[in-house]
Amino acid sequence: MKKGNLSLRLYQLAKWIDNQCTIADIGTDHGYLPYYLLDNQSICRAICCDINSGPLQNAKGTFSGARFKDKVDFRLGSGIEPLESSEVDYVVIAGMGGGLIVDILNKNISKSYSFKGFYLQPQTEQDVLRTWLLKNGFTIVNDFCVFEDEKYYEGLFVVPAKPLDTELPNGLFNEGDLIVYNQSSDKEFGHRIHRDSISIYKDYLAFKRRKYEMILSKLTEAGLSEKNSEKANLCREKLSDIDKLIQ
Ligand SMILES: C[S@@+](CC[C@H](N)C(=O)[O-])C[C@H]1O[C@@H](n2cnc3c(N)ncnc32)[C@H](O)[C@@H]1O
Repeated sequence: MKKGNLSLRLYQLAKWIDNQCTIADIGTDHGYLPYYLLDNQSICRAICCDINSGPLQNAKGTFSGARFKDKVDFRLGSGIEPLESSEVDYVVIAGMGGGLIVDILNKNISKSYSFKGFYLQPQTEQDVLRTWLLKNGFTIVNDFCVFEDEKYYEGLFVVPAKPLDTELPNGLFNEGDLIVYNQSSDKEFGHRIHRDSISIYKDYLAFKRRKYEMILSKLTEAGLSEKNSEKANLCREKLSDIDKLIQ
């Protein structure tokens, strides 16, 4: 399901972005998310950033015409480098690997701490990203999960070192709506799942379960060398974690 030019995974992020705030979209490509937010959610201002000039041109194309001329800015550069500290309320980094998102946040961590929060949508290495965030003073307020074009996508809303009882955007992150799912040390499976995502999340866990079962059976078929035994044990741990979460 698509919402105009917005994919479902970006729509899910957009839903949780406050009206009347300012945002920067890092790796904006076509600028669809900032356009949607200005068009539908009356945010105050958006800064579209990309490391490559081609995507930034695409974003300018999306915004062609005078409609949002005073509300949008386009900046070439890597990560949050094109932004000043605290220049926007929230920063979106979507459609990139978790490792790259870590590099972007880590490059200038005091600048990263200066924003109110980050909407992150890692395509891979979600566990690497969650582990880094928790080690570096960020609170994961919410994880979400969507299924689109035969694939599962994960997203997170995180705030720098802020207790959860402080004011959060949109009233959508009420404690009662967030279900602490994952108490284990494995950060692959998300942590605080929003009520809206629970049924997809359970399907996602079942999908992961099938994946680890398949890997385990292939390893067993191949014969358990020392290396394979380690991998097989890791699969068993993952399966046991998933079983606890599914219950
Ligand atoms: C796959 S697209 C994602 C576009 C959009 N954010 C989305 O989620 O659909 C990745 C975009 O990130 C840009 N990009 C890659 N590394 C970047 C970095 N270090 N800083 C800023 N942009 C980057 C690429 O040029 C590309 O336009």
